[in-house]
Amino acid sequence: MYKKQILKTLHQNKDEYVSQDHLASEVGISKTQLTDEIRKLEEEGYKIDSSVEKGYCLIKTPNQLLPYEIQEDLSTSYIGREIHYYPEVDSTNEVAKRLAQEGVPEGTIVIAESQRRGRGRRGKKWLSPSGGVWMTIILRPDIPPSKAPQLTLVTGVAVAETLDQECRLDVGIKWPNDILIGEKKVCGILTEASANPQGLEYVVVGIGIDLNVDVNNFPPELREGATSLKHELEKEISGVKLVQQFLSNFEKLYNDFKTGKFPEILNQWRRLSKTIGTSVEVHKKGRIVRGEAVGINKEGVLILETDDGSLRKIISGECTHFKE
Ligand code: BTN
Repeated sequence: MYKKQILKTLHQNKDEYVSQDHLASEVGISKTQLTDEIRKLEEEGYKIDSSVEKGYCLIKTPNQLLPYEIQEDLSTSYIGREIHYYPEVDSTNEVAKRLAQEGVPEGTIVIAESQRRGRGRRGKKWLSPSGGVWMTIILRPDIPPSKAPQLTLVTGVAVAETLDQECRLDVGIKWPNDILIGEKKVCGILTEASANPQGLEYVVVGIGIDLNVDVNNFPPELREGATSLKHELEKEISGVKLVQQFLSNFEKLYNDFKTGKFPEILNQWRRLSKTIGTSVEVHKKGRIVRGEAVGINKEGVLILETDDGSLRKIISGECTHFKE
């Protein structure tokens, strides 16, 4: 709590020294306590220059997803207003489900620097080393359980918009929920819902972005089809800024979703889609369907035109793109 106030004051006086007296009185602690808090911040990776005459100056913040960094200048009203942060965790989706059951407010997020047992779709493992953004949002929309999967598409649009704004790369969405740069996956989304006979209790939306992850450490089977922003941009980018932008984009879209504007969001999804207009192969339970993806309908179902000209609706499956 003191750390947050100290950082706020140091951020407000960026590149300038703040005297010890001023900082201590601003935060409401003694100078001894202040020295102790500054030491703790340095242990967390902050570089703070201290001078007996001039006081303290913030030189560098660690590239970590620390809650007080994310909440500083966060423009949302309820998404990310409560943050549960872990340097390491089994899976942010699992923590989020526990918290949702305990009744945390809508918009609470769980975020970790790394995950020991990150989970992907269809029971797959999700590699989550430090450098990535591993995050889950807890939602309580008043919708029938059958509509919960639509939140995957809403989230996909929010991620793709964010990456486009922050990085200006060739970002797009592969149906149903992969965010691609070029043809390589940079982000996956795992939506899980809990319902009882009365209806939907909560939804957790897990987002995994390979941000400052080293692609050379990907196992060979992933290296071909996956990338990271650091690899594409050839430099590290600020996780905090990216998360802030994403939360803001997500809140706007989620508010639209709750007020019945899913059709408009789907239009955004269609514009960002790399799947529509492409020859695809969809694998589902050992069966393969091939064809050209001609659209998605208002429920988010993929429509394929097969070689014999018939239309097939694909509700779920693993999709591969083919360039002709
Ligand atoms: C996919 O298979 O494409 C979905 C991957 C989702 C990964 C994210 S990382 C944060 C959250 N916690 C998890 O264990 N999984 C999701």
